Parts: sequence; structure tokens; C-alpha cells
Amino acid sequence: MTAARTLALLGGDPAITLDQTEAMKWPLVEQEELDAVAEVAGSGEWSNHPIRDELEAEFAAYIGVNYALAHNNGTAALHACAFALGIGPGDEVICPATSYWATAVPVLTVGAIPVFADVEPVFLNLDPAAAEGRITPRTKAIVVCHRGGMPCDMDGFTDLAQRYGLKLIEDASHAHGSSFRGRKIGSWGDVAGFSMQTSKVMPSGEGGLFTTNEKQYYDRAVLLGHYERIGDLDHEDSRFEHTGFGFKYRISPIHAAIGRVALAKLDERNARRNAGIQYLYDQVSEIPGFSVPPMPDHVERVYYRSPFMIYDPDELGGLPADRFTQALQAEGARLGTATRLRHRGGLHTQPLFVERKHWAFEHPDNAESAARVRYGPGTLPITEDPPVNRVSLPRFTQPTPELLDQYVAAFRKVAANASALL
Ligand SMILES: Cc1ncc(COP(=O)(O)O)c(C=O)c1O
Repeated sequence: MTAARTLALLGGDPAITLDQTEAMKWPLVEQEELDAVAEVAGSGEWSNHPIRDELEAEFAAYIGVNYALAHNNGTAALHACAFALGIGPGDEVICPATSYWATAVPVLTVGAIPVFADVEPVFLNLDPAAAEGRITPRTKAIVVCHRGGMPCDMDGFTDLAQRYGLKLIEDASHAHGSSFRGRKIGSWGDVAGFSMQTSKVMPSGEGGLFTTNEKQYYDRAVLLGHYERIGDLDHEDSRFEHTGFGFKYRISPIHAAIGRVALAKLDERNARRNAGIQYLYDQVSEIPGFSVPPMPDHVERVYYRSPFMIYDPDELGGLPADRFTQALQAEGARLGTATRLRHRGGLHTQPLFVERKHWAFEHPDNAESAARVRYGPGTLPITEDPPVNRVSLPRFTQPTPELLDQYVAAFRKVAANASALL
């Protein structure tokens, strides 16, 4: 066999030879970002600047909600979500464990108890049926996180919220631009939090956005973290303007300026990512063993982090997904392993929960919940061992057709040589 046909893992020449730096580049720093930063920096108004209001108005219009409130990060925006809904000691909030910690930990921050529920097997988003199974008379809200930009089943969660009288929080940190039944993610929940941290699809460097349709929730979010705006509230809560409540969550105007450019370019940049992934979906699904993750027609999504293919090892002689990925990496593919979450174990296995190291667990109003709620391995079977085999696709932000074709060739080459890897 020639060196070109032999797997790189077995000493052959790699299939991917093109430089990948530009294709993977993120964030994209273009003249508009630099000009926006220079303008705010030049103004000397580095703490309060009208650019913040412009970002908020434009983002609210984009998502289709009445209010957006800019924050210094997504974690703060999610704290504001829990606070806005009046969640506190005595309450339980259902969360996914397949997420970054800021989906669940703000529930503790306001003094309530996070209750983890299992996920659906493909995208690992919270499963409405599993969430329903964890509802108790103490349940006040559900937090959904649209993992990687894939919308959760908002029909299912809206129905649950209505039937049980629960509030819905969306962690939309991965999903700027995704929609469900034509309505943008971030407009489905009573409240939503977005991150604009550098890696996100709408990056401001550090930054976050809180969205809602309800004035009362907006006002409470102002109360929590924006003392400089409390005096503007048109009710008696304005009396707190000289102290706030101990948190200071306003965004830095320089970051707001970058976020505003990111919003203006969001659809175009998302479309570029999507086109690359769609091409890989189309091509790689022709290869034995690979299929496109099934997405309902009423979902439009963005791709943050790891897109993936569903993989059936039986079609390639039992070759495990990790081994396939290893061979792809040797061919020059820059991929994460789609099984990484399993190795991290899920949020519910983290010491903060397992050891109950937070004052919320000691609060007398939470005594019954703290004694009943279980954390740790063995409590969430799908989260702990996702049954669907997956192989990651690259995190391209602006791939060229030539590079995409080299990736397709690498997938084909590894599949064609699967028996050599067994
Ligand atoms: C799902 C999710 N929620 C919340 C956050 C918190 O956002 P930030 O890092 O801006 O505080 C992040 C990202 O970092 C995230 O991935």
C-alpha cells in the first residue's frame, strides 16, 4: 500500500495538509471591532457610555423581547435570571448536568437547591420527561441550556411550565441566533441569560446579556446588579439606589462596543460556520457508519463548539468512536473527543454538590430538599454514559472548500482502513 493510502496512525502520510489557522480562528478581529474599541476608549467614558444602551436595544430587537440588560459576564446574567424570578430558600430548580457550572450554580447563589435531571441521548439537552420526573411541590423553575447552540424541546418545556405552574430560565450562552418554531432562543423562557465570553458565537471578550419580556423581571435584574440604574425604577424599589444588593454587574463599555459589532456580524458569521458543517454533514453521511444527528424541521441552530456525527461502530467492524477519532487526529484533523463529557462525569458529580459545600444546603428552609435530593454517580444514566456514539467534527469558523474536502478525505480514508485499526 502507498504511503498516501496507509493511515497516518500506522505510519502513512496524513490526509490533511493545509494550514488550518485561519479556518479555526476565533475571535475574528476585524477593523470594525478595532474602530469600535478605539471610539469608546477615546471618549474616556470607560464605565458608563451610551454604547451599552445601544447594545441592549439592538439585542432585544434581534431576540424579539421587550428588554435586554447587559452584564459583565454570562454567569452574572444567569444569577440575575434566578434573582429576577424571586427564587430563594425553600425552592428547587431543575437543571441539566451536561453543562458548564453557571447553568446550575446561580441556583445555589440565590439560596435554592439545584435538582439535576437527565438528558436526551443525542444532543444531551435536558429531557422534558426526565425533568417532569423530578418535579416536587417545591419545584419553582426549570433551567434549560441549549447545548452547543442546539435548541431544547421548547414545546415540551413550555407545556411543563404551564401544567405545573413553573418558571422557565434559558441558559442561551451557546445559542445566539438559534431559533425554535421561528422564535429566537432567549425569548422562550420567562428570563434568559447569554454569555459573550470570547469563545462564544457572539463574543465581546467578557460580557453577558439578560433578556425578558416582563418589566417586573427586568426591574429585579436591575435591582440585583446595576445600582447606577436603580434610581430610574418607577416604583419604591428605587429607594435602594445608594446600596444596591451587593453585586455590581454592569458591562464595561469597551466590551459592549465589541459585543455590538459581534451582534451586527452574528448572522453572517453563523451562516459561515453552518455552511461548513452542512457540507461535512452531507459528505460524511455518505460514509458507512456515519449519520447526521436528527434535527426537527422547526429548529434552526447555530454551532458553538463541537458539532458531531452520529457513529455506528457496527458498520465498521466494531471500531470504537475514540479509536476512529484518534486515527482522524493522526491524519491532521483538529478534533475534540465527543466523549469528553463522560470523562468529566457531569455537574452532579462535582464536589460542590456531592459534598454539599454551600450555605444553601444548610438553610433551614431547604432542610427537606437537602435531605432528599441525590447527587453523584448513578443518579443520571444518560448523562453519565451517553448511549449514542459520536465522532466530533472540527470547530471551523471560516473553512475553505479545499480544507473541508481534505477533512472528508480523512474520514473516508479512516473508514476505508477501519479493519487495520481493529
Ligand atoms: C452554558 C454556559 N452557561 C454560562 C456560561 C457563563 O458565561 P460567562 O463565562 O460569560 O460567565 C458559559 C460559558 O462560559 C456557558 O458555556
